[in-house]
Amino acid sequence: MKTEKIEIMIREAIPSDAKEILAFSRQTGAETDFLTYGEEGLELSEAFEEMYLEGLMDKQNAILLVAIINNEEIIGMASVGADDKPKTQHVGEVGITVSKEFWGFGLGTALMEEIEIWAKESGVIRRLELTVHSENERAIVLYEKMGYHREGLLSRIMCINGTFVDGVMMSLLID
Ligand SMILES: CC(C)(COP(=O)(O)OP(=O)(O)OC[C@H]1O[C@@H](n2cnc3c(N)ncnc32)[C@H](O)[C@@H]1OP(=O)(O)O)[C@@H](O)C(=O)NCCC(=O)NCCS
Repeated sequence: MKTEKIEIMIREAIPSDAKEILAFSRQTGAETDFLTYGEEGLELSEAFEEMYLEGLMDKQNAILLVAIINNEEIIGMASVGADDKPKTQHVGEVGITVSKEFWGFGLGTALMEEIEIWAKESGVIRRLELTVHSENERAIVLYEKMGYHREGLLSRIMCINGTFVDGVMMSLLID
C-alpha cells in the first residue's frame, strides 16, 4: 500500500490569508449546518477581512488560527473573539471549524489545545466560552474532552431550514 505524507501546520492568520479564509468559510458553511453561516460564508469583503486580520495581530485577547495542509490549503480554523471593555475583556468567545474531509483525525483537538495554550499565555483571557448546537455531538464531545463545562441550554438559538434548534452554552475557566 502506498502511503502519502501529509504535513499540517497551525499558525496565526495573517492579512494575506484573507481571500482563502473567506473561501474556506463558504466551503465549510456549505458542508455543515452547525455553523452560524451557510454556503454564503462570512459575507465580508476581502479588504475588510484583511483589515480585520491586521488589527487582530495587535490584540492580546483575540486570535485566529489557521491549519494549513502541505503549505498550501487551509483545512481548519479556530478563533477567539473578545471586546476591549475593562469589565469583559477577559471573556473570549471560541469558534472552530475543520474541513469535513478531515473530520475525525484529531485536528479539532489540536486546534482547541492551541487555543487553550494561547489563552493561558495571553495574560488577559480568564474565561473561554462558546455556544454549540445541542445535536452537534462531535463538537460537544470535543469540548468536554478539553474540560469545558455545560452551563445551560439556550432555546431556539438558531433556525435551520425553518426548524428552531437549541444551543448548549459551555465554558472553560483559565487560571
Ligand atoms: C467539531 C469539529 C471542529 C471537530 O473537529 P475534528 O477534527 O473532527 O475533531 P477531532 O478529530 O479532534 O475529534 C474530537 C473528538 O470527537 C469525537 N468524535 C469523533 N467522531 C465522532 C462522532 N462521529 N460522534 C461523536 N463524537 C465523535 C472523538 O471523541 C474525538 O476525540 P478522540 O479522538 O480523542 O476520541 C468538526 O467536526 C467541525 O468542524 N464540525 C463542523 C463545524 C462545527 O460544528 N464547529 C463547532 C461549532 S460550535
